[in-house]
Amino acid sequence: MESAQGIETVSLMGKKIILGVTGGIAAYKAAELCRLLVKAGAEVRVVMTAAAQQFVAPLTFQALSGKPVLTSLWDAASGDGMEHIHLSRDADLLLVAPASGDFLAKLAQGRADDLLTTLCLARTCKLTVAPAMNREMWAAAATQRNLEQLRADGVQLLGPAAGEQACGEVGLGRMLEPADILAALPGMLGAGPLAGKRILITAGPTFEAIDPVRGLTNRSSGKMGYAIAQAAAEAGAEVCLVSGPTCLAAPTGVRRIDVQSAAEMREAVLKELPSKAFIAVAAVADYRVDAASPQKIKKSEAGLTLDLVANPDILAEVAARPDAPFCVGFAAETERLAEHAEAKRLKKKLPLLVGNLAQDTLGQDSAELVLFDDRGQHRLPRADKLIQARALVAHLAKLLN
Ligand code: C5P
Repeated sequence: MESAQGIETVSLMGKKIILGVTGGIAAYKAAELCRLLVKAGAEVRVVMTAAAQQFVAPLTFQALSGKPVLTSLWDAASGDGMEHIHLSRDADLLLVAPASGDFLAKLAQGRADDLLTTLCLARTCKLTVAPAMNREMWAAAATQRNLEQLRADGVQLLGPAAGEQACGEVGLGRMLEPADILAALPGMLGAGPLAGKRILITAGPTFEAIDPVRGLTNRSSGKMGYAIAQAAAEAGAEVCLVSGPTCLAAPTGVRRIDVQSAAEMREAVLKELPSKAFIAVAAVADYRVDAASPQKIKKSEAGLTLDLVANPDILAEVAARPDAPFCVGFAAETERLAEHAEAKRLKKKLPLLVGNLAQDTLGQDSAELVLFDDRGQHRLPRADKLIQARALVAHLAKLLN
């Protein structure tokens, strides 16, 4: 299952993680998360609220973590009764998954009426929560107010995801899948293969104005670039995403700069240099209208001729700089992929180029990729774009390190 999720390389070796489980149906997924954490090398202590125990028995987590599960502030058997203090002193991360709406409300208020909330208040380690609740509970003004407070308090949020819910409704509020939570942790703990490295990424299409209401653009959705930004952040990189117009939300921990035209994208990229790597995923328009009209062009029976001029090649320019980062290009071709991709790689002098067939990729959630580097070709069979992005980032990390 892990390989299908692209997380087989995640390592949390030696990390001490407290897994808090609160009361929601997603608690059953926390059991799988516990297993994945242990498999990745983490030492896991599980703390369950009373409500969580209505969904899953503590024995399940005891078996998976190999340690007794903590359920009460008032456990006379546990040493000096200061478990709520000791536990977090020793931990690298307190991860609460699922985090119910009620738990988030208590956390936002700083309440401490059971072991888990007391632990949160007394903690010295980082706190990450993976919310899970019905979509209306998630959208409720009170929940959103609490989340704002939690963000301001430095609590890291993972998810939620959108989709079908246990209650039968569809919307935002599902807990992230255990594999996706796992993938995000090394970066948050500064333990990923790109820890501390600045990575600059372009994504999406560009929009070249013809007049104030019309323009030239292309069918890039931005999904691949955003997935790569997420994967790089998961790997611990400090990610800056320069994005053309898309409908996508910036991945957690990624700094996004919005641009419209190729000229704006170029300016933003040059401003963000230097960086360790530059991954140019954007489908930059090759041409722009020479002199965009300041007024709306009137329709005419005679037709319309636009004079186009070539846009600057951002990637080629960055790759040619004396302080060039490690440059990764993308080539979307409609035919003879290997031939065109390799020619592009040599022309732009790139150490790594990712090729794909445009008709198989544009706007879709999955892609088939071929990586071209000095050692030859490396094929990534069709898979979800996030899985491909993680594989690409793992490959990049190997080349960088
Ligand atoms: O459009 P082309 O096939 O040449 O794109 C190859 C690579 O160059 C892509 O990574 C793309 O993001 C980048 N590029 C660029 N600026 C351009 C054109 C392409 O950065 N004007």
